[in-house]
Amino acid sequence: MKRQGVVTVQRQGVFYLIEISGLCKQYKEVRAVDNLNLTVKAGEIFGLLGPNGAGKTTVIRILTTLARPTGGKVLINGRKISRGNAVIKREIGVVSQRENLDIKLTARENMELHGRLFKLPPGERRARTKELLDFVNLSERAATAVEHFSGGMKRRLMIARALMHEPRLLFLDEPTVGLDPQVRRKIWDLIRSLNNRGITVLLTTHYIEEAELLCHRVGIMNRGRLIALGTPTELKQKVGKVVVEIPNNRVTGYNDETKYLVFENRGEALRYASGLQDNLVIRESNLEDVFVELTGHKVGD
Ligand SMILES: Nc1ncnc2c1ncn2[C@@H]1O[C@H](COP(=O)(O)OP(=O)(O)O)[C@@H](O)[C@H]1O
Ligand SMILES: [Mg+2]
Repeated sequence: MKRQGVVTVQRQGVFYLIEISGLCKQYKEVRAVDNLNLTVKAGEIFGLLGPNGAGKTTVIRILTTLARPTGGKVLINGRKISRGNAVIKREIGVVSQRENLDIKLTARENMELHGRLFKLPPGERRARTKELLDFVNLSERAATAVEHFSGGMKRRLMIARALMHEPRLLFLDEPTVGLDPQVRRKIWDLIRSLNNRGITVLLTTHYIEEAELLCHRVGIMNRGRLIALGTPTELKQKVGKVVVEIPNNRVTGYNDETKYLVFENRGEALRYASGLQDNLVIRESNLEDVFVELTGHKVGD
């Protein structure tokens, strides 16, 4: 895929494609986003990780001009966003959490339709459609109605469609939710390869693995707040490097729930674990541990 005019980001120092300061969104009683401060650098795959209800979709909706914040400021590519801003809309692509393809139409027609909405000339529309269906490995199904597609194919088509007007910034809201592990990995490869072509990605997820394996930097959200920010490695180092998981067991007195204990190194973990029950798990720390440490519960709870 040739990217004309998209990869124009000047790399003199760090270039922030997204700058969020003091962002708030209040729905009646719920504070969906609570004083969020965050920057996303050009070229990054940035992940917002958090449980359901953390406020991730609300952040995406604000950044993509679909919702109006109740406080704070957002700049995209240096420009202030406002609801429905056409200039910003041309620079961003959005893949929403819910499937929103026209399922009676073919893959190609869905692409063409999006191209028309963005007023691409017919020749360019055709060329982009072909190139992008090829990129997401759907060329052979170009003339198939989307109602016959699997979940993974639909997600790939949504990603291709979002790239139709050559955005430099792509928002993906829970890009692999509900997909099988293998299909999920294919979507990750797709996200990496479009990132390699110069597209900055902001995605949301409640999958620990997805944040850890795919994202260059991760912001952990809980109840509207950003509670941790850094590379997966930095975040994991905050809680220690080795975790001992002790499942509930009457002998140890841990009756109600699994205990997680973190250690600087494997030796310390082993020393602690020796003589304890034998169904415990010793493993490297992950982002789930960071979340547990900060909130006292698991992302999935
Ligand atoms: N349109 C809305 N009206 C009222 N409350 C909302 C609305 N959208 C989201 N919320 C609430 O805001 C919080 C954050 O929701 P959301 O951004 O969808 O979280 P996430 O995407 O992390 O699951 C939740 O408590 C949710 O119920
Ligand atoms: Mg959501």
